[in-house]
Order: sequence, then C-alpha cells, then structure tokens
Amino acid sequence: MSDDTGRTVGPAEGKLGVLLVGLGAVATTFIAGVENVRRGRALAIGSLSQLATIRLGKRTDQRTPLIKEFVPLADLNDLVFAAWDPIPDDAYVAAQKAGVLDATHLEPIAPFLKTIQPMPAVFDQNYVKRLQGTNVKRGKTKRDLAEQLREDIRRFKAESGAARLVLVWCASTEVFIQPGPAHQTLQAFERAMEQNDPAIAPSMLYAWASLMEDVPFANGAPNLTVDTPALVALAEQRSVPIGGKDFKTGQTMMKTVLAPAIKARMLGLAGWYSTNILGNRDGEVLDDPESFKTKEESKLGVLEYILQPAAHPELYGNVYHKVRINYYPPRGDNKEGWDNIDIFGWLGYPMQIKVDFLCRDSILAAPIVLDLALFFDLAQRAGLAGVQEWLSFYFKSPQVAAGLYPEHDLFIQQTKLKNTLRWLMGEAQITHLGVEYYEYGEQ
Ligand SMILES: NC(=O)c1ccc[n+]([C@@H]2O[C@H](COP(=O)([O-])OP(=O)(O)OC[C@H]3O[C@@H](n4cnc5c(N)ncnc54)[C@H](O)[C@@H]3O)[C@@H](O)[C@H]2O)c1
Repeated sequence: MSDDTGRTVGPAEGKLGVLLVGLGAVATTFIAGVENVRRGRALAIGSLSQLATIRLGKRTDQRTPLIKEFVPLADLNDLVFAAWDPIPDDAYVAAQKAGVLDATHLEPIAPFLKTIQPMPAVFDQNYVKRLQGTNVKRGKTKRDLAEQLREDIRRFKAESGAARLVLVWCASTEVFIQPGPAHQTLQAFERAMEQNDPAIAPSMLYAWASLMEDVPFANGAPNLTVDTPALVALAEQRSVPIGGKDFKTGQTMMKTVLAPAIKARMLGLAGWYSTNILGNRDGEVLDDPESFKTKEESKLGVLEYILQPAAHPELYGNVYHKVRINYYPPRGDNKEGWDNIDIFGWLGYPMQIKVDFLCRDSILAAPIVLDLALFFDLAQRAGLAGVQEWLSFYFKSPQVAAGLYPEHDLFIQQTKLKNTLRWLMGEAQITHLGVEYYEYGEQ
C-alpha cells in the first residue's frame, strides 16, 4: 500500500569505497568487524542495516522485511577501505594497539588488515594537542593540503575500482572552534584556506576535499567540521549528502532513552551527573581541556532539547547537568559510564536513578560507522543532497537545517529513519494511530 510515489534510487552496483579519516580504535574495529562478518566468522551485532527489520503497511499485513532487503544497500562483500592517519601503523598494528578485538578476530584476517596502510594525513597539533604524528602531508597553504586530499581520493577510487565512495571522520576530536566569518560563505572559506586562517581546522579540509570530489561526508566526532553555512552550501551545490556530529554510542544513547521517559511521564529533574572513565587514545586526547570542551558541548546539548525547560519551568527550569570524562589508562577501550539522576515526582518527592554502563566504546561505534557508510551511499543514490537529518539516530549532536532544533529522542530518531526509508521506497508512513483496526475508526 503506497500513499507516496517514492524516489528513484540508483542500484548499489559495483564496489563501495569507504574512506576513513583516522585509523584508530573505532576505524580498525569497524574494518576488522566487516571482514569477520563477510567471512562468516561473526555477526554484525548493533547494525540496523544488517539486522533490523521494517514494518510496512498495516499490522495485519505481516510485511516486515529486513531493511537491507527493502532498500538497495551496498553488500558487505563490495566494501573496500582506505584511511588517513598521522600515525603510520597499518590496520593490523593499529588494531592490536587499540586493544579492542582479541586474537580470534584479528589473527585470521591479519594479511588483509596489513594491506590497509594509512595515507599521510593532514594533521596539525594545534588542533589535537595530545597527539604527535610523522605520517603527515606538507603544503604551503591549507588549500594545497586539501588539494592533496582530493588527489588521494581520486587515486583510491581508480586503484580500488570503486564505483562510489563515502567518507567517515573517525579521527580524534579537535579543539573547540566557534563558527566565525571564515565559515559563513564558500568564498570566505576558500579564501581562509589560502590564507592559512586558524579558523580552518584539518577536519574542514577533509570535508571540503570530500565534497569537491562529490563524496558524502559523515562526521563521527563533535568537531564543527562540515556543520557550517559554507560547507552546507557546497554540499547542496554539488548535491552531496553530509551529516554529523559525534557518534551516539554509550552514555548519551542511554541519556536520550531515559530523558524522554522522564519527560513523557511529566516527572521533574533536579540534576543529572554523568561521569566516565576510559583509557584509550580517545580518552587521552579528551584529557586536553580544549578537545574536551568540544565533546562537552556535544554531550550537554541533549537534555535541553528533550526536556524543553521553557515550556516546563516547574519541572526542568533548574536542572544541574554535569558531564565529566576522566582519562584512566587501566580501562583501555572498556569505558565505564556512571549516571546519577535526581528526579522528583508527585507533590515534589525526590527519587534517584543510577546507571552504571560498562560499555566498550569501539564495539558500540563500529556498527554505527557501517550503517552511516551504507546509508550515506544510499542517500547519494537517491539524490538526497545536503544535511541528512534522518540519520540523527546515529549522532549526539545531529546536524539539522538552519533554524531547526535537533531531535534527540532515540525513538523519534528511529521513527524518522524508518519513515524516510518508507518514503524513499514509496511506502505508506506509519503513524501508529491505529483507529483502522476498530469499528469506531471505520468511515
Ligand atoms: N568510540 C566511541 O564510542 C565514540 C563515540 C563518539 C565519538 N567518537 C569519536 O570517534 C573518534 C575516534 O575514536 P577512537 O576511539 O577511534 O580514537 P583513536 O584515538 O583510537 O583514533 C583516532 C585516530 O585519528 C587519528 N587522527 C587524529 N587527527 C587526524 C587527522 N587530522 N587526520 C587523520 N587522522 C587523524 C589519530 O592518530 C588516531 O589514530 C574520536 O574523535 C572520538 O571522540 C567515538
């Protein structure tokens, strides 16, 4: 049953090249995971594109295909990979150092992982203070560096034989940058690149290069990157999908499940204290106050939008929200996130909720990288240009059109994603109204 004509979606023929900025814990866990899955050695747990179903039509219709059977997505066997990193380790060494996957998932695919050698990165320590790298590009201006990235993209496409490309930022979190004049128009942005303006961070050069090569760009870190009027305009001009920011994995995913529940029941919130310990390289980078500030902004935003304190000052007008990330090397990638939530109910009586999430950062992030790569490729084949708000589901700070506030509630985001897939394929939207199943709903 269709109430929409749908879009024309090009087929997913040929190889899909996945370009990753950063070959660290998340990127190697993603690549090694895909290789294990396609060899039949593991399951793509956590990935909607591989495991989720989608209901079509009425509940009585019994139509619930897998998403990957409903929309034309690239097959995992068609994925090829490349990455940039200032650290010269190949994907095998990088995965070993990251310490996320054990030998059972790394040794059988070691020869494959060793073939993925990072291309020299555009890297500047001013933007990631706690990192040093030798595998870096040299250039007189930021524009020269960005042009070198464009050449890398073209070379990878030619050498891999990829029919299409997508790019996902899986690199370290850069220092906090406020949008300024250099980010307002494409002309100002390109001038700033030529003048080596500090407002242009390395991640913005990757984004510009990607868009100039008509390659969709997804940002897995909280950096400003592609979330500027200049680069949104470029994406629209060249009809390329973009999105970000910051993979929504552990603590914030739980926050965007619990906060809507509190709000839905009109319970009050006095405070929400979130703290983490983690000991991977990401944790080390975030130990720098300037990179932490970028992450903090991303993590803090969600409650305000979900709770709408202006509409409910008596319930949410005075919330104390604190987020801490503590670098603690013994834990490696196995983060522990604690939340203490002070709520109040009927007549103002206080209650508490405690969450202790012993998660694995990159195990949660890897399937998100996979889904983003496949859905951004789908978006491009469907002719969806510019900001892909329907993929907010995957981000802590979803990028949205100018003048819109982001939707943070995980289940609204999931509905948005699935309804977009239905819309693309000309299927009816599911509203959950359901009167058609009852006599009073009949006309
Ligand atoms: N794992 C999660 O749950 C999660 C959630 C949200 C966001 N993130 C973000 O994803 C990113 C990757 O996380 P990770 O755990 O893999 O970190 P990581 O430190 O293991 O890997 C990041 C890699 O990026 C490289 N890098 C830094 N600057 C670069 C540049 N300019 N060009 C190319 N490479 C560069 C580093 O050398 C490093 O190898 C971080 O920004 C992190 O904040 C992770």
